[in-house]
Amino acid sequence: MHWQSASATEQELNQLADQLRSESCKPYVIPIGASNALGSLGYVHAMQELKEQMREQHLNIDHIVFASCSGGTQAGMVLGAKLINFQGKILGIDIAPVGQFGNVYEAHLMKLSNEAAKMLAVKKQFAPQDFLVNYDYLGKGYAIVGDLEREAIHLLAEKEGILLDPVYTGRAFGGLLDLIQSKQFSKNETVLFWHTGGTPALFAQVENICAK
Ligand SMILES: Cc1ncc(COP(=O)(O)O)c(C=O)c1O
Repeated sequence: MHWQSASATEQELNQLADQLRSESCKPYVIPIGASNALGSLGYVHAMQELKEQMREQHLNIDHIVFASCSGGTQAGMVLGAKLINFQGKILGIDIAPVGQFGNVYEAHLMKLSNEAAKMLAVKKQFAPQDFLVNYDYLGKGYAIVGDLEREAIHLLAEKEGILLDPVYTGRAFGGLLDLIQSKQFSKNETVLFWHTGGTPALFAQVENICAK
């Protein structure tokens, strides 16, 4: 579910939290995708881990590509990148068809990164243009498996034994393959595809994925 299309759910969550507060309870509201400043700190930490791995393996990474949806992942990565002085580009492939107009999603990412920076007491300030998002691979909508996802899942399973999921990583990896084919990266560049998980969702869509 996308962060914006989920606003009705968020509203319900907040109403329930208000009700619980009026009953002297202390609810903690976790937004959709856990995409608040606190949630994004996981990927700030993950970038520090990446820095270590790059050092150990003498890797230089020019691009990181991954699935972006409710924003915590990308907001954390971009803040983490600033903190470790990562020089490559960070490209989120958007997964759900809302937010691609008028920098709405980028403004949301900016807010998350700025709040997370404040939480960490680091003086980093972000603008919407600090976030690269590709909206070209939305297909027929959220969680609807098409040829792009199906072929990406099959390819990586067959060649590398790595399982992608049908909703997020399958779409993002399919998008990456298309970007490579359309020569968006040069031959001497290193691209990291960041597998963000989700594999159990494969089993919910077995029929769609196996229908070749
Ligand atoms: C497997 C997987 N990858 C990527 C994402 C996108 O992350 P975010 O919602 O933080 O943008 C999600 C979100 O639910 C996910 O489940």
